[in-house]
Amino acid sequence: NEGSLWGGRFSSGPADVMAALSKSTHFDWKLAPYDIAGSKAHARVLHRAGLLTEEELAGMLSALNRLGDDVASGAFVPADTDEDVHGALERGLLERAGEDLGGKLRAGRSRNDQIATMVRMYLRDASRQIASGVLDVVEALAVQAEQHPETPMPGRTHLQHAQPVLLAHHLLAHAWPLLRDVERLRDLDRRLAYSAYGSGALAGSSLGLDPAQVAQELGFDGPVENSIDGTASRDLVAEFTWVTAMIGVDLSRISEEVILWATKEFGFVTLHDSYSTGSSIMPQKKNPDIAELARGKAGRLIGDHTGLLATLKALPLAYNRDLQEDKEPAFDAVDTLALLLPAVSGMIATLTFHPDRLAELAPQGFSLATDIAEWLVRQGVPFRVAHEVAGECVRLCEQHTPARELHELTDQELAAIHPALTPDVREVLTVEGSLASRDALGGTAPARVAEQLEAAKQRVAEF
Ligand code: ARG
Repeated sequence: NEGSLWGGRFSSGPADVMAALSKSTHFDWKLAPYDIAGSKAHARVLHRAGLLTEEELAGMLSALNRLGDDVASGAFVPADTDEDVHGALERGLLERAGEDLGGKLRAGRSRNDQIATMVRMYLRDASRQIASGVLDVVEALAVQAEQHPETPMPGRTHLQHAQPVLLAHHLLAHAWPLLRDVERLRDLDRRLAYSAYGSGALAGSSLGLDPAQVAQELGFDGPVENSIDGTASRDLVAEFTWVTAMIGVDLSRISEEVILWATKEFGFVTLHDSYSTGSSIMPQKKNPDIAELARGKAGRLIGDHTGLLATLKALPLAYNRDLQEDKEPAFDAVDTLALLLPAVSGMIATLTFHPDRLAELAPQGFSLATDIAEWLVRQGVPFRVAHEVAGECVRLCEQHTPARELHELTDQELAAIHPALTPDVREVLTVEGSLASRDALGGTAPARVAEQLEAAKQRVAEF
C-alpha cells in the first residue's frame, strides 16, 4: 500500500471515509523540513548503533538531502494516498534511496516520537518569529512615546476621567505586557528544548539508539526523561497557544483604545490612510479595520487555546490519535499573528496624535480633585478630611450652570470650604503641576516617564 506506514495485518485498505478523516498532510506538510532534519539525525544514530553501514549512511543522507531539496522546490508534494507528512516523506525516501535502504530508516522510531519532536522544533522557530513581531509593536509604541514626551491626556479608570497622565506613560503601559509576552516565549523555549526522539511509540527504543545524540544534532538541550511523557504530553503546545492568546488579548486592548480614540467624540488620533479602510456607501468614512480585526482575532486565538485544552482533557496515556488535533490550533495561532503583528505595528507607528485635544481634555471631569486632597495632606490635613473637602470642591463646581472647573473656584469659595485651602493650592490645579507631583518610581512625572522609556528600550535591546 503505497504511502502507508502500516498494513501487514490488514486484509483490506482503509475505507475512503477512514482515509479522509485520518489524513493530515494538508496541514502537517508544514513540518516536512523538520521531519527530514530528524530523519538525518536518526540515520546517524542508526549508523552509530551498527544498524547502517558507512556506505548505507552516505546513501541515506544523500537521498534525504535530495528529498529535502525537492520538498523545498515543490517538486515533491504529498500524494492522495499519503496519510501524513511521515508517510509522504517515507514514500519520497523509498523513491530516492530504493526500498531496501530506504526501508531501514524507520527502525527504532515511531511517528509518535517523530511528531512530538517536530512540533517542538516548529514551535521553537515560530516563537522566535512571533517574538520579533511583538518587539516591533513595542518599538512602534516606544517611538510614539518618544515623540510625545510632554503631552498630557486624561487618564481613566472605569472609562471615566481619573487623573491626568502623560500620553507616553499610557502608551508604554501597553508596551510592558508585550515585553512580558516576549519573555514568556523565551521562557517557554527552555522547556521546548527537549527532544522526544528515541521515545518510540511510548516505551523507548531497544536498538541501542542514543536519544541524546539526536537531541544534540537537532539543536535541543537534551532528550526527554520519560518516553511516555515525550510522546503523550502536549502541555507545551498548550502553553504556546496560551501565550499567543495572551498576545492576541494584549493587541486587542491596544486596538480597542485606538478604535475609541479615533472617534469624533474622543478625537485623540487620526489613522493613516494606508492603515484604514473606507465604506462602500458612506464616502466620508475612515474605519479602524486593523484594530477591529485585531480585536476580533483575539477571540480566534483564545479559541485555538481553549479548543486544544478541551482536546487534551481526560486523554489517557500514552499516545492517542486525538493528539493530532494539536497542530491546527498552533499553526492557526502562528499564521494569525504573522498577519496581525506587522499590521498592528504599522498602524501604531503611523498614528497621528492630537496633543491639543488631549491636553484640553486632561484636566476636565475634575481629574485634579485627588491633587487637592493630596496637597491638603501635605499641609497636615488628615486624608479622610482632605478627601471630603476635595469632594465638596467638586460639588460646588457642579452646582454652577454650566459646571465650572476646579481652578475656576475663587479664593473665597476655597477658604469657605476649608481654612487650609489657601490660594497656594493652585500650584497643583494645573495639569503640569499634577503630573510633576507624581514623581515616585513608575509615576507619570515627565522625568520618570523619560526613564521608563529608556528602560523599555533597554529591554527591547536585550532580547
Ligand atoms: N499524525 C499523527 C499526529 O499528528 C502522528 C501519527 C501517529 N499515528 C498513529 N497512528 N500512531 O499526531
